[in-house]
Amino acid sequence: MEKIVILTGAGISAESGLGTFRDEGGLWVQHRIEDVATPEGFARNPALVHAFYNARRVQAAKAEPNAAHVALARLQQDWPGEVIIVTQNVDGLHEAGGASDVIHMHGILAGALCAACGHRWTAPPEMAVGEPCPACAAPTARPDVVWFGEMPYRMDEIYDHLAEASIFAAIGTSGQVYPAAAFVHEAIASGARTIELNLEPSAGVSSFDETRFGPATETVPQWVAKLLGRR
Ligand code: APR
Repeated sequence: MEKIVILTGAGISAESGLGTFRDEGGLWVQHRIEDVATPEGFARNPALVHAFYNARRVQAAKAEPNAAHVALARLQQDWPGEVIIVTQNVDGLHEAGGASDVIHMHGILAGALCAACGHRWTAPPEMAVGEPCPACAAPTARPDVVWFGEMPYRMDEIYDHLAEASIFAAIGTSGQVYPAAAFVHEAIASGARTIELNLEPSAGVSSFDETRFGPATETVPQWVAKLLGRR
């Protein structure tokens, strides 16, 4: 049965009230990436970085999954083949919408990581500078989020899934950040049919066989209904 691999970005959570990065008024308009999303920025001013992620963690915890998150969970449940969701998002809305085994390649806001020993634990709503690691007690706790210049998580698994994909969909991502922006080329090399579901054309739109433009809460349920109706 056909395996579906889906890459999602901030656009799928936009209608749940969570800001995207590069749209009008986006997070990278309000903050400098080098200050809040790099290891150097964290070393320079950990309080600023914790404040940035604390605000996003508190907001994400209050957000509700939208029809797009729910539609992808239904696809996972009802599609006879495997449906793999790889997300660049650090919110938990795919899981809240019913999805399982979501691959968070950029980490998760709800996670804390010890920079000294690598221990991971559930982050408190607001992390403080110098918080001791529960395992090694070093004051080196950081958000378990992948920063620019760091390797995204579970890349080997993701490439294995892309190698087996029959269908690849990119949803709500501007296609400007690698390695995620190149996943469509891996899928094409595997012979997959590719589709982009986005509010507007992404940087990689020309690589896709099919595109559907509009808000994810409209395009994603329609796409899922078509796939499930087709069976
Ligand atoms: N429905 C569908 N798409 C939407 C919606 C919506 N309601 N609102 C916005 N979009 C689209 C925008 O058109 C844009 O193409 O979502 C995309 C969001 O792009 P970005 O803000 O660049 O977010 P993303 O692609 O997820 O960024 C990738 O960059 O900064 C890093 O780690 C960060 O994971 C992030 C990565």
